[in-house]
Amino acid sequence: MKTIFSGIQPSGSLTLGNYLGAMKHFVDLQEDHHCYFCVVDEHAITVPQDRLKLRDNIKSLAALYIASGIDPNKSTLFIQSEVPAHTQLGWMLQTVSYIGELERMTQFKDKSKGKEAVSAGLLTYPPLMAADILLYKTDIVPVGEDQKQHLELTRDLAQRFNHRYNDIFTIPDISIPKVGARIMSLQEPTKKMSKSDDNQKASIFILDTEKQIEKKIKSAVTDSEGIVKYDKENKPGISNLLTIYASCTGETIEELEGKYEGKGYGEFKQDTANAVIDALRPIQKKYEALIHSEELDELLDHGADKANAAATKMLRKAKKAMGLGRVHKKRK
Ligand code: TYM
Repeated sequence: MKTIFSGIQPSGSLTLGNYLGAMKHFVDLQEDHHCYFCVVDEHAITVPQDRLKLRDNIKSLAALYIASGIDPNKSTLFIQSEVPAHTQLGWMLQTVSYIGELERMTQFKDKSKGKEAVSAGLLTYPPLMAADILLYKTDIVPVGEDQKQHLELTRDLAQRFNHRYNDIFTIPDISIPKVGARIMSLQEPTKKMSKSDDNQKASIFILDTEKQIEKKIKSAVTDSEGIVKYDKENKPGISNLLTIYASCTGETIEELEGKYEGKGYGEFKQDTANAVIDALRPIQKKYEALIHSEELDELLDHGADKANAAATKMLRKAKKAMGLGRVHKKRK
């Protein structure tokens, strides 16, 4: 059985982009894979966070994983900072990373652009992400398109480590959805939808009310042509809405183009809003029931135990390969 690992940052409310690009696909995978899903809180602190909000966001994200269909009996669901092996291996992988390759990461460039004080953590974030993945002998990493570069670096670091020290790491493959890998901003459809967008109308959040969703989609920037057709270059707004609609209902973009032939944007936008609302409603209901329950804490404790057991083993191997610490005779 192949192993899956993916993580989401608890750095704000989850967006429809996070859901359609990543989370939605996790659920199907858990049926026939060995899955690890992580709340990567140590990644979130690479930019300043309010500590109380961060705490809330961590729990909220864990609840959303379960509400979206992650079954903690089938998958290991845990919080990154509760498994110390992540930062330990992250440090070790920093020593095989080159500053030049870290500076080339587009996410680093975007997040540091125009800022005077950029944390070193923002630069060394990719080796920590590589550690997340490599600790679990991961075969496949399901993510949205924006993580492709980080995944390529993860593969490079694993290969470099294996070559330099010992062949211990599995080289992971990336899995990107065919539709929905890059959901765009509703206000600037040439930019990706992001948790941290200052414009609240640009992103749909998984926990938005029906009214908010409807309002945001109705005010989404489109064009004046009045034809519902997928054309990313010339009609980025309509193309984005078609992608959202198709991802939410499972219909193909061609089917939707046919359905709205000769119809205006008004009807199309209303139906897109309904498709999003219908997709999110069951998740929101389950989330409400879970968020304040003790059950959630118990599940996360259990997840941390399972993740710690697996991660510690791999960390031990990596330390041995690098010559760190002492060799324990009994363990070897
Ligand atoms: P994060 O928290 O930014 O995003 C979580 C997941 O959502 C996807 N995503 C999107 N997909 C489609 N359209 C969008 N607009 C959109 N925005 C975000 C992301 O691609 C991601 O799959 N570095 C990662 C977290 C991470 C991780 C890992 C992922 C840390 N360690 C190990 C996989 C494996 C991140 O910042 O994701």
